[in-house]
Amino acid sequence: MNTPDLAAIRAQFPILSEKIYGKDLVYLDNGASAQKPRAVIDAMVHAMEHQYANIHRGLHWMSERTTDVYEQTRDLAAGLMNAASREEIIFVRNSTEAINLVAHSFGRHLLKPGQAVLISEMEHHSNIVPWQMLRDACGIELRVAPITDDGELDFPAFEALLADGKVGLVAITHMSNVLGTYLPAERVIQTAHAAGALVLLDGSQAIVHRAVDVQTLGCDFYAWTGHKLYGPTGIGVLWGRKALLEAMPPFLGGGDMISSVTFAHSEWARVPHKFEAGTPAILEGIGLGAAIKFVQNLGYDAIAAHEAALTEYGLAHIGEIPGLTIWGHAKDRGGVISFTMDGAHPHDIATLLDRQGIAVRAGHHCAEPLMRRLGLNATARASFAAYTTYGEIDALVAGLRRVREFLA
Ligand code: ALA
Repeated sequence: MNTPDLAAIRAQFPILSEKIYGKDLVYLDNGASAQKPRAVIDAMVHAMEHQYANIHRGLHWMSERTTDVYEQTRDLAAGLMNAASREEIIFVRNSTEAINLVAHSFGRHLLKPGQAVLISEMEHHSNIVPWQMLRDACGIELRVAPITDDGELDFPAFEALLADGKVGLVAITHMSNVLGTYLPAERVIQTAHAAGALVLLDGSQAIVHRAVDVQTLGCDFYAWTGHKLYGPTGIGVLWGRKALLEAMPPFLGGGDMISSVTFAHSEWARVPHKFEAGTPAILEGIGLGAAIKFVQNLGYDAIAAHEAALTEYGLAHIGEIPGLTIWGHAKDRGGVISFTMDGAHPHDIATLLDRQGIAVRAGHHCAEPLMRRLGLNATARASFAAYTTYGEIDALVAGLRRVREFLA
């Protein structure tokens, strides 16, 4: 991806020309949420202005057309992940809801007391808390695989935790939102399967940056959210193997998820609708379709190559700043750089950068146990997207040098 392409990509994002405190916006908080291209904005506005009604139930033109556009997103999502069928795509609000769905449905009904769920030390709270709730309600053990000081999964320890055959599900991040670590996913999945465990990957970060092929990976569930993939908030995807989804009971009950209801008894709709109770996020689903097309038009090869080069550049230049420590040195890592600076609280770093127009995230990044493992309360984090430029990384480095001077 050369510079003219990058300029063309940036031109599709109206917000990137905003000024913050009179300065160019340098948006490096993409791991929290990505900005939206014109195509996503237009798709949602077009639907509201020209083609909108409730879906799946109307017999009128507006309802049928809106249903068609919304359901196209299911095909696009299936294509994006190489799902074996569109029925394996369940629309949810976000990754958190996807994981809760698996915990409440698969966890409560198909795991047995005495079995365990295995997570890792570098999970987001969304992949910790639902399993704690399951543990407390159903007598399922919760195991935690450690990470190395470089921020990699400690593979021998992971294997040891699987050895007694009691783990029914490994639920693990595909890419850490704090350390940038990419999981050796295929090896994890093969090892878990050999020990009799299914595997859920939390792909909230990973699917934004690299192609995900669930059939090649061989996982059993894959969760992701639309707003990090240049789409709207309020829409995400749980992918699951069809046979598994068919064996699972519904998570939420209500309209749209049934085939018949009497006061005595209800019959469930087929998957995926069995898991999609109530009026869904229609406009957001339509927006997500446009976001998937945007990513596919750029192409994952170009996105991954650009972000790998940016990350290398960022690590080299940010790492040169005196007194600054970068957290996470996995061999396979993506465009998320967490750091601390001697004598500066990460919140102060973020505030001082903000006054220079630079947006980064600071805090525990919804990963408090990981912070504890690193011996920290918080880090500052710069996270990249397909539209991030080298100039923005230079601005961050210059901004951090100013922060250092200010606090010296
Ligand atoms: N999970 C998001 C992040 O890492 C919100 O910032």
